[in-house]
Amino acid sequence: MSTNQQKIEHLHDLRKQALLGGGQKRIDSQHKKGKLTARERIDLLLDEGSFEEFDMFVTHRCTDFGLKNEQYLSDGVVTGCGTIDGRLVYVFSQDFTVFGGSLSETFAGKICKIMDMAMNQGAPVIGINDSGGARIQEGVKSLAGYADIFQRNIMASGVIPQISAIFGPCAGGAVYSPALTDFNIMTRDQSYMFVTGPKVVKSVTGEEVSVEDLGGASVHASKSGVAHFVADNEEEGILLTRKLLGFLPQNNLEDAPLGPMDDPIDRIDDALNEIIPENANKPYDVKDVIHSIVDNSDILEVHGDYAKNIVTCFARFNGMSVGIVANQPKFMAGVLDINASRKAARFVRFCDAFNIPILTLVDVPGFLPGTDQEYGGIIIHGAKLLFAYGEATVPKVTVILRKAYGGAYDVMSSKHLRGDFNYAWPNAEIAVMGAKGAIEVLYGSEIAKLTDEQAKADLTATREEEYREKFANPYVAAKFGYIDDVIEPNTTRYRVIRAFQSLQTKKVSNPPKKHSNLPL
Ligand code: HXC
Repeated sequence: MSTNQQKIEHLHDLRKQALLGGGQKRIDSQHKKGKLTARERIDLLLDEGSFEEFDMFVTHRCTDFGLKNEQYLSDGVVTGCGTIDGRLVYVFSQDFTVFGGSLSETFAGKICKIMDMAMNQGAPVIGINDSGGARIQEGVKSLAGYADIFQRNIMASGVIPQISAIFGPCAGGAVYSPALTDFNIMTRDQSYMFVTGPKVVKSVTGEEVSVEDLGGASVHASKSGVAHFVADNEEEGILLTRKLLGFLPQNNLEDAPLGPMDDPIDRIDDALNEIIPENANKPYDVKDVIHSIVDNSDILEVHGDYAKNIVTCFARFNGMSVGIVANQPKFMAGVLDINASRKAARFVRFCDAFNIPILTLVDVPGFLPGTDQEYGGIIIHGAKLLFAYGEATVPKVTVILRKAYGGAYDVMSSKHLRGDFNYAWPNAEIAVMGAKGAIEVLYGSEIAKLTDEQAKADLTATREEEYREKFANPYVAAKFGYIDDVIEPNTTRYRVIRAFQSLQTKKVSNPPKKHSNLPL
C-alpha cells in the first residue's frame, strides 16, 4: 500500500471510529431505550446525502478524573449543515453515548461554531438535545460553554429561526438554551426538562414527584407551556420539525417559501354561514372555521395542548405562509386569561419577527375575571398580547366572528392597533361588555327598586334586549370605520386571501429605538 493510500486508510479508520461515538455497547443501550443515536437523528432530519459534518475529529481537553485516556472523536456532539426540502439548515445533535451527551468546553465550541455560521449565512439552527448536562469533570469550563451558547441564542433570536428538539434528558441550566429558542419539540415518555430533578426537589421542598410529572413532555405541553409540540416518538418529532420549517423563512430578511397553490382561492363554504349557533352563549369549534378557510385544511398547531382557549397555528393561504391566532369558544368560552395572552403574544411576536402575516379570528367575551388572574398579573400578561399586536408591522387581517367585548376587542388585532383589514361577520357583537353585565351596571339600582320579582325579570329582559339590538351587531363599529366591511361567512377564505395579496407590499416601521420595553 502506498503512503498516500495508508493516509487515506487512516482517515477512513478515524471516521469509522467517530461514527461509533461512545462505542457499540452504548449505541445498543440507546436503541434499547427506544432512542436513536445522534447521527441517526440527523440522517432522518436532513435531505438524504446532504449532511456536511464539521469537527468530527474534535476531542476534549480535560485531563482530570482520568479523562486524559478517555477520548471519543467528535466529543459527544455531531454538528454541521445540510438541507431540508433543499433549504440550508445548521444542526447539532447531542450524542448520549459519549459521557451521556454532557457538555464540555470543546463540545460547546462546536455548537458555537455552527451557530456563528448559521448567523453569517442566515439559515435556521436546529438543536437536538439528549444530554446529562454540564460535563462534571470539566467544572466551570462547561458552565462557560453553556453561557457561550446562550449568548448566541440571544443574538440569533429574531434573526434566524431556532428550533430545539428534546429527545432525552435536558436538565439544570441546560434547559435555558431551548428556552431561548423559538420552538421546543419534546417526545412523549422519552424526554424531560427541569431546572432541578426529583431528588433535589425532595431534599429542598419535601415534595415527591416523578421525572415525568416534574418535567415530562405532557407537563410542559399542557401546564408550563415550555413545549410547543409533543411527538409520540422521535421520527414524528423530526417530521414535525421539517414541516414547521416549511412555514418559516430562512431569516428575518426573507419571506417564508410559497407552498403549492392548488386550492381555489374563491372556494365558498356555505357551512360557515351556519356555524355560529343561534344562542350566543353556545360554543362551536373555531378550528372548523380555520380548517375551512386555509389551503387544503392543512394547519400546524403550535401549543395545541396549552391554553386551549386560544388557538395558534401556521397555515397557508394560496400558498402564502400565515400565522393564525383565534379565540376558541369551545374552551372557557374563548376568554383571554394569563396563559392565553402569553401564548398568543409569543406567537404574534415570532410571526412579526419573521415576516409572517397574521390572521386573527375573534370571538372573545373579554378577559377572565377573578383574584387568581389578578394576583397572577393578568394586567401585565394581557398587556403582552396588546403590545405584541400593536408593535407588529407584518400584514394583519382580522375577522370578528362573533363576540368582541371590552378590552379584548382592542387587543385582538383591532383597527386601533394598526390592523390592516378588519372584517366582521354579520353575527359580530362589538361592545364594552355583554348584555347581562351592562344592564347590571346601567340599570341595577333601578331594577333593584322593584319589589315584584316578575317585574324585575321583565325589566331586565327588556333592557337586555334593547342593549343587544343596539350593540349585538357589527354595524355600529362599521359606521365608525373600525370595521372595514361586514362579510358573508362563506366568502371568508376569498376575502382573507385578497386582503393578504393586497398587503404584500406593506411597509410600516416603528420609531428607531434600542429596543422596546415589553411588559414582562
Ligand atoms: C459527565 C456524565 C454526565 C455528566 C452522565 N454522564 N451525565 N458524565 N458529566 N453530567 C455519563 C455517565 O457517567 C455514564 O457514563 C453515561 O454518561 C450515561 O449515564 P447513565 O447515568 O448511565 O445514564 P442514565 O441511567 O440513562 O441516566 C442519565 C442521567 C444521569 C439521568 C442524565 O446520567 C444523570 O443524572 N447525570 C447527571 C446529571 C446532572 O446532574 N448533570 C449536571 C446538571 S447541572 P458511562 O461511562 O457509564 O457510559 C448542569 C448545569 C448546567 O448541567 C448549567 C448551565 C448554565
